[in-house]
Amino acid sequence: MYQQIVVLTGAGISAESGLRTFRDQDGLWEEHHIEDVATPEGYERDAELVERFYNSRWQQLHSGTVVPNAAHLALAKLEAEFTGQLLIITQNIDDLHERAGSRRLLHMHGELSKGRCPRSRQTFILRDPFGASNCCTCCIPAQRLRPHVVWFGEMPLGMDSIHDALDNCDLFIAIGTSGTVYPAAGFVDAANHHGAQTVEVNMMAPDRHCQFQYHLTGKAGELVPKLVDTILAGQVIGSESSL
Ligand code: OAD
Repeated sequence: MYQQIVVLTGAGISAESGLRTFRDQDGLWEEHHIEDVATPEGYERDAELVERFYNSRWQQLHSGTVVPNAAHLALAKLEAEFTGQLLIITQNIDDLHERAGSRRLLHMHGELSKGRCPRSRQTFILRDPFGASNCCTCCIPAQRLRPHVVWFGEMPLGMDSIHDALDNCDLFIAIGTSGTVYPAAGFVDAANHHGAQTVEVNMMAPDRHCQFQYHLTGKAGELVPKLVDTILAGQVIGSESSL
């Protein structure tokens, strides 16, 4: 029976909700240069281009067509029914975990639904997409809000809490992430180092460098509900009776 579970999610968990991943075929980075839309330098060069990029994601998320899928819902069920501790760390800037009902959640790469004052770092919920009229109320003169998104070269959010959770977990699960962006890509090493069981759920079969003890190949929407049922039944993942 597990006591402390950490779940890391990536773009793959939201793929079945209709949101594009970054590095799959047809992924977002095929169409955009990272340095243009996901770096502080890109924003300094052309704020409008960066705002257009995040606004189109914002509009899609608010279009009414994007809803949490079975994997998000299963993780919310795990939080509600698990008697131990669960922390979800997401690299995703969408709010599908919250909409599914998850509450112990850390957005390490920021949140699409918020803008941030570049001077005070105070965050504001965005009622409208980004534009010149989206300003802070904490400074005089009011500052134009920037996306509350961690860009390349910036420090991810909540790292102290994340390290505490990784040091103490007995099960670490990564769902729908390519494991190419650090520090998130290194979490499995930390969890292995501290003696946790490590499990990966991904559409792609593992390569030979895979650091996870167990790998489940398939869609998150199909596998995560089964994984959650296994945990809630008090079974160990990878035992004969599970999954
Ligand atoms: P990637 O696009 O790099 O990887 C998505 C992963 O999800 C791939 O390994 C896919 O095989 C897998 N996948 C796709 N559909 C799936 C499904 N239905 N079920 C299970 N797995 C599926 O996305 P991330 O790893 O999240 O950062 O990317 C990490 C970071 O890179 C992002 O947070 C973003 C990006 O640059 C910033 O912008 C700071």
